Amino acid sequence: MSTEPPLETRPAYRLWAATYDVENPLTTMDSLAVHFFSHDIAGKDLLDAACGTARRLVFPDRKGPRSSCGVDLVFEMLAAGRRNPSRPRTTAGGDLRALPFGAGAFDVVWCRLAAGHLLKIAPLYREFARVLRKGGYVVVTDFHPEAIRRGHARAFRDVSGATHVVEHVVHDAEAHETAAREAGLTFDASGSLGVGSEVRPFYERAKKLDRYAADLGLPLLLALRFLK
Ligand SMILES: C[S@@+](CC[C@H](N)C(=O)[O-])C[C@H]1O[C@@H](n2cnc3c(N)ncnc32)[C@H](O)[C@@H]1O
Repeated sequence: MSTEPPLETRPAYRLWAATYDVENPLTTMDSLAVHFFSHDIAGKDLLDAACGTARRLVFPDRKGPRSSCGVDLVFEMLAAGRRNPSRPRTTAGGDLRALPFGAGAFDVVWCRLAAGHLLKIAPLYREFARVLRKGGYVVVTDFHPEAIRRGHARAFRDVSGATHVVEHVVHDAEAHETAAREAGLTFDASGSLGVGSEVRPFYERAKKLDRYAADLGLPLLLALRFLK
């Protein structure tokens, strides 16, 4: 593991962009949770807020939304997505805290694995409440607070193979619920996904089954859904 101090968001994702699309246990759990919480996107207008490389805006296994677009803070993440011909062209630079869209533009908003990069989440939920239509919903996922408490970190390997840790601010489920409620959204559902058989192949490929045994049951992903 790296001994350098954790990287701030922008420098981290500039470095991570080239290798970001490699799936890992956390992103696998994120896919499962978001699919479960937004199985009904067909025919809807979807925003992926903090879309990164826009890898979640392709829908090979199910009917996709009527329209989809993504916003991200880091040019290199968006550019990595643009180099992939299967990704949508409907992505743009933008900040989660000041989304470049008018009020009521979307039925569904995703914010996947990005809230922990913000010091404060109240502005995030105010923006979700603003860009959602009445009857719409937002799904938010993040690295689980319990994983951080147990000493795990958001780490990645860059193209040279060097490992880096990204700064992460812990927002527990109650903080999300409070921020969403204050923004006028209603809590609908939440869930925690822990290390289990779905992600065992990652440990197996890395020849780290001893680590798998130690991590078994560790909550890695927090997912929440709020309605407007
Ligand atoms: C872990 S990645 C997740 C990317 C994508 N949601 C996915 O699941 O593949 C987190 C993303 O959040 C973006 N991000 C962090 N802070 C942001 C902000 N304030 N506004 C917009 N994007 C932000 C980063 O640039 C990065 O692309």
